Amino acid sequence: MTAKLRLGVNIDHVATIRNARGGDHPDPVRAAEIVASVGGDGITAHLREDRRHIRDEDLARIQTATELPLNLEMAATQEMLEIALRHKPHAACIVPEKREERTTEGGLDAAGLHNTLAPIVEELKAAGIRVSLFIEATDRQLDASLRLGVPVVEFHTGEYAHAFLDGDNAKIEAELKRISDMAALAAKNGIEPHAGHGLTFENVQPIAAIPQIAELNIGHYLIGEAVFTGLEPAIRRMRELMDEAR
Ligand code: PXP
Repeated sequence: MTAKLRLGVNIDHVATIRNARGGDHPDPVRAAEIVASVGGDGITAHLREDRRHIRDEDLARIQTATELPLNLEMAATQEMLEIALRHKPHAACIVPEKREERTTEGGLDAAGLHNTLAPIVEELKAAGIRVSLFIEATDRQLDASLRLGVPVVEFHTGEYAHAFLDGDNAKIEAELKRISDMAALAAKNGIEPHAGHGLTFENVQPIAAIPQIAELNIGHYLIGEAVFTGLEPAIRRMRELMDEAR
């Protein structure tokens, strides 16, 4: 039987709305509490270099407010490493980060950045933090992740989500095949595959159906839906769709 698929809810964009007015509402901590109350499996938050959404003080507040595991998304920098070591989240997902990008636009070049990543991965692992790399589902990046000794990779589903928006069925199929082949290869090599980026009610099920994938991290769409229906029903619906697909 396929294991239950975990849902990590990325609450960054609650903080985006808060920061638009500079005050403290809406509070991402309240969102984290709702995720916990509705049976979400984890909280994901990206502390960006420019602090455009989540801020340093939010991390400790989120960790205090819920028992859910925190998955900290972070760039591979000394500053973020120190923050991660101080907060000791359950997991740290290393992501590429460019100041000018609107969102994380592609996967981490784990192959090209081996020498930068290796000591960061080692320090995080030594601190008992579950390290994951946010990569494109390719042989080259998976191979590099294996060499870095990470227990988890998260496959970037952005290309798949774009293909869905374009209604490009051939591309959707090709992306699904790429992600599911790499998920199988990761699992075979002892790496737990996760996936995320751009997932919605419409496109989540084929990804959720990939049996080796253990966790999805979903943010922007859920927070957007929450504007219309509330966060709780939005998460419940996503959960139902994921369970149906499994
Ligand atoms: N996983 C990772 C590593 C991400 O960087 C993001 C975006 O911050 C997500 C998942 C969630 O993507 P989205 O907000 O498009 O659902």
